[in-house]
Amino acid sequence: MKKREIHIVGNWKMNQTLHEISDFFIEMSKMKMELKCKAWIAPQALHIPILKEIAFTTGSIQIGAQNCCEFDSGAFTGEISPLALADIGAEFVIIGHSERRTIYKEDNELLNKKVLAALKHNLKVIYCVGETLAEREADQTFAVLEKQMLVGLKNIPADKAHLLLIAYEPVWAIGTGKTATAEQAEEAHAFIRGKLAVNSESTVILYGGSVKPDNIDSLLSKENIDGALVGGASLKASDFRQLCSSASVVSR
Ligand code: PGA
Repeated sequence: MKKREIHIVGNWKMNQTLHEISDFFIEMSKMKMELKCKAWIAPQALHIPILKEIAFTTGSIQIGAQNCCEFDSGAFTGEISPLALADIGAEFVIIGHSERRTIYKEDNELLNKKVLAALKHNLKVIYCVGETLAEREADQTFAVLEKQMLVGLKNIPADKAHLLLIAYEPVWAIGTGKTATAEQAEEAHAFIRGKLAVNSESTVILYGGSVKPDNIDSLLSKENIDGALVGGASLKASDFRQLCSSASVVSR
């Protein structure tokens, strides 16, 4: 059976100036580490070509996007085309982040179109799922996750399923400093793995929500947690590096 590689994915959201990006990579290159995990960064879309160039010279970090449109081209002012992302060499795209779901009202049906559009261009897709605090308290966590999976991932062609990763991000843990316990996360990850129609054992499932160097080890000690999608702590080179070091000693 194919092993699942551990991934640390930095979601930079709408942060980092050119100056800060340059400082980040200068810091990273000073740290000279041997990466045994996959290290990915999703900067603002405008910065993807710049990061691709820097990452090429520093080696081994893959660069992707935080969102894409469900269409390839046309009259969609301000959108990010998946075709253009593939064209500039982006490796992956995050789809369905809770900030897209809540602030921009993206629903499971729309997200499904985006997933299919990205896969068509062979972009790897990190599809995000997760419940709000109210849903957890109402005992709706599994029902919400199931719907997000069923609708968001329908009609994926069998020959593209290997390009899919899932991120479980409980909304109440994002940017709040409240991490799900490793046990809560593992329970959700096992549920999600059980709902995957194909490649269930080989699909990478990341945890996201206030991941930091001091909680990554306990999360990665769980069998179904194959890495992390990291916001705040991915902006600092020293934290990002530490997360990658922790991930480099884990194997599935
Ligand atoms: P956080 O963000 O690590 O800052 O909680 C995670 C995310 O939004 O992907």
